[in-house]
Amino acid sequence: MSQTVIAIDGPAASGKGTVSKAISEKLQFNYLDTGKLYRAIGAKYLEGYPPVDAAQSLDSNDLDKYDLKKPEIAQAASEVASIPEVRAALLEFQRNFSQKMPGAVLDGRDIGTIVCPNAKIKIFLTASLEARAKRRFIELYKHDKEISFETILKQIRERDKRDQTRSSSPMVAASDAKKFDTSELTITEAVDKVFSYIQTKL
Ligand code: CDP
Repeated sequence: MSQTVIAIDGPAASGKGTVSKAISEKLQFNYLDTGKLYRAIGAKYLEGYPPVDAAQSLDSNDLDKYDLKKPEIAQAASEVASIPEVRAALLEFQRNFSQKMPGAVLDGRDIGTIVCPNAKIKIFLTASLEARAKRRFIELYKHDKEISFETILKQIRERDKRDQTRSSSPMVAASDAKKFDTSELTITEAVDKVFSYIQTKL
């Protein structure tokens, strides 16, 4: 029997990570932040590895080796993520993860459309560009006082465009995904709303 899969997709800083983690803790499900896989490949690419080789040889140690939150790694991640062979190399791992007992929450850009099209529950989180850039700025500023809001806004805008327009697994809400706009919500409100919806579907 297949496990319960909850797919949570959406653009940068839409709240996916925080909401997904909280939901997985409430349900005691496994949680996979698939963006970390692309970020680790982006980090290796910045070190000079060909992206397809980096994707095919990715191992779990790579996920702890780099400071994956760095904005330059996010940008590199979105570049390597447009390469079909990179995406293909990650599919089996993500699908196997989704079938772990007792269930799994995966967040990313293409979970509900490509990785787990049969997921029982699909969520697409959005928020305005300004709200997302503000959140990401506050998060990154804690570690880097040199960072500017304008730079973050520009980077997120570029990444959105690249993620939405690539031909391989573009970021798009699955037709059966439930959309939530988190622009005006606190994290607790976003988690509560999504969790209430999930409870009606479980
Ligand atoms: O946390 P944030 O939303 O800023 O980014 P992330 O989820 O860590 O993803 C970083 C980049 O990886 C994205 O901009 C996408 O280009 C790529 N990605 C993807 O293509 N597919 C996924 N399932 C997850 C991430």
